Amino acid sequence: MKIAPSILSADFSRLKDEIQEVEGAGADWLHVDVMDGHFVPNITIGPVVVEWVRKVTTIPVDVHLMITDPDKYAPEFIKAGADWISIHPDTSANPNATLKKIRELGAKTSIAVNPDVPLGHVENCFGDIDMVLIMTVFPGFGGQAFIPDVLAKITAARILIAERKLPILIEVDGGIKTDNIARVVQAGGNVIVSGSGIFKTPDYAETVRQMRAAVARS
Ligand code: DX5
Ligand code: ZN
Repeated sequence: MKIAPSILSADFSRLKDEIQEVEGAGADWLHVDVMDGHFVPNITIGPVVVEWVRKVTTIPVDVHLMITDPDKYAPEFIKAGADWISIHPDTSANPNATLKKIRELGAKTSIAVNPDVPLGHVENCFGDIDMVLIMTVFPGFGGQAFIPDVLAKITAARILIAERKLPILIEVDGGIKTDNIARVVQAGGNVIVSGSGIFKTPDYAETVRQMRAAVARS
């Protein structure tokens, strides 16, 4: 299991310290939520910030694009240092082509599945992805409540990926905290995003330790 803290819930006035603290706490990846005020009703950060994030961390930078024009902007995020790019399928006229282009530019690819979207909707992208991003909240804001109905979809993804022997990771994003992470991992998640579940706690190392312990116990 990899833990990917979402910097959306970090204190941006001390972003470097927050990133280094969470990295020191045992984070495996950094999750960066990019929102444009069009695809979702919130605006966050752009490639300029990713460029600085890249300079202060050594772990993979996982960029989650919640924007209407990934074809135009994914290359800029890759240039800024993103290792992973997730796109939402309905933001591209041809998701397979967008994913192929992202791979050509040297980043790993992922397709996001919103809580109300069936897995079948993105199955035709499975040849072009390194990861599927299963949303357990509707994208737009940090700190929302986890939607437990999505657990069945995580398991369905795990079964499909195992049956077809595909080298695809399952990332789960939204509302994950120490008290529900074990259920997510048991269902099949192996890259776990947590924003408020880490950054709104007083001791990141202790929170990450508790998350790993909860998974180990389950
Ligand atoms: C939601 C974002 C998530 C979110 C995670 O639009 O994609 O990454 O910020 O934050 P928490 O863990 O607080 O739900
Ligand atoms: Zn995200």
